[in-house]
Amino acid sequence: MEKRILSVFLFVFSVVFPLLHASSGNLIVNGTRGSSLFWLCHHTFNEPFQPDKCSIFWQGYKGSDIVLHVYKNGQEEFHHQHESFQNRTTIFLDQLPLGNFSLIIEKLMLQDDEIAVKVIFISEGKPAKKLCQTTLYVAAPFQEPKIEINQAENTATCSTKGGYPKPELKWTSEDGRILKLRKLPVIKKENDGTYSVISTVNITGLNNVTCEIYNPTSKETLRMSHKEPVTPPATGTIISISIIIIIIIIIMTIIFFAVVITLKARCPLPWNVPAQRTQTTGGASAEREAPCAAPGQNESYNGVSPRENQAAYRRQNSVTNDSIAANHD
Ligand SMILES: *[C@@H]1O[C@H](CO)[C@@H](O)[C@H](O)[C@H]1NC(C)=O
Ligand SMILES: *[C@@H]1O[C@H](CO)[C@@H](O)[C@H](O)[C@H]1NC(C)=O
Ligand SMILES: *[C@@H]1O[C@H](CO)[C@@H](O)[C@H](O)[C@H]1NC(C)=O
Ligand SMILES: *[C@@H]1O[C@H](CO)[C@@H](O)[C@H](O)[C@H]1NC(C)=O
Ligand SMILES: *[C@@H]1O[C@H](CO)[C@@H](O)[C@H](O)[C@H]1NC(C)=O
Repeated sequence: MEKRILSVFLFVFSVVFPLLHASSGNLIVNGTRGSSLFWLCHHTFNEPFQPDKCSIFWQGYKGSDIVLHVYKNGQEEFHHQHESFQNRTTIFLDQLPLGNFSLIIEKLMLQDDEIAVKVIFISEGKPAKKLCQTTLYVAAPFQEPKIEINQAENTATCSTKGGYPKPELKWTSEDGRILKLRKLPVIKKENDGTYSVISTVNITGLNNVTCEIYNPTSKETLRMSHKEPVTPPATGTIISISIIIIIIIIIMTIIFFAVVITLKARCPLPWNVPAQRTQTTGGASAEREAPCAAPGQNESYNGVSPRENQAAYRRQNSVTNDSIAANHD
């Protein structure tokens, strides 16, 4: 008897639900396969909660009605629970009088995806209230994408599987440009309900391409990049150029030192010559002698260098010669 009333009730809702479904889905709850989902629902009573005079249905719809959980005559009732939700749902019995109609769904499955759920609260002699209309979405993560290169055709192929729902795939080049695909990705639904994806792109003239797999429910993006290895001839060229440069540097160093040693043996380096040399206004003989003075001649003695003495002596001589010449005239 009671069972038949419930059946009639469910029938009514199964007819009404499809219409409601179109306008519902205001709320969204997303979960991951295998994990638990907390569907929050709160109701504010107009009058005190009377456990034995009300029924609460946690009701879903996906093509047909799905009863997730039932509370009736002051206790939980599992007879009408859909078998896919057996042992997976929990309500907060002690908090129902406070209007806490939240439901926990454990071990989410791909079949739970896109179930439109709501709580139907029926108080004796009152119209049913529809509460907390929500759509459940379930995601499963994709495996790390793989990229394979076809050298002959100059194409890259990206593939992944095991995820849910249908992913969005795109290819980008190093500068972030989205590559145009000549063929749409092949997205296939496997027997376990998950998707596998394969996409091929022409990589002519591209060094680095990235394949991006986006899961619209979990909002997770997986990326895999492929970089063209630098071609062996180019590597060889770089090595040869480096060797040549190193050899040139060595040869130039040897020549430099050879020149320095030769110069040093013949005469002092220009920067070792005393400053007085340029100031000396003496005769041509002094100028000639300065660049190749023997070591030791530069040492000063009593503040006056021997060379200054020599120059002074020569100046004296030339003056004498001049005066002799003048005397001749
Ligand atoms: C309902 O009860 C659960 C468990 O105690 C709690 O986590 C949740 O916040 C409550 N929700 C509301 C709306 O009160
Ligand atoms: C639920 O749990 C009960 C008791 O542990 C068990 O007998 C039953 O087979 C379970 N149902 C499902 C669908 O796992
Ligand atoms: C390729 O480019 C992507 C995006 O610019 C970058 O994250 C990745 O590290 C690059 N890969 C290589 C191997 O250079
Ligand atoms: C790849 O693209 C290049 C130029 O971007 C084109 O010449 C070549 O035919 C394309 N290869 C394939 C296999 O489509
Ligand atoms: C939940 O999943 C749906 C369906 O894929 C998506 O449209 C929505 O943006 C997701 N919401 C959140 C908050 O992740």
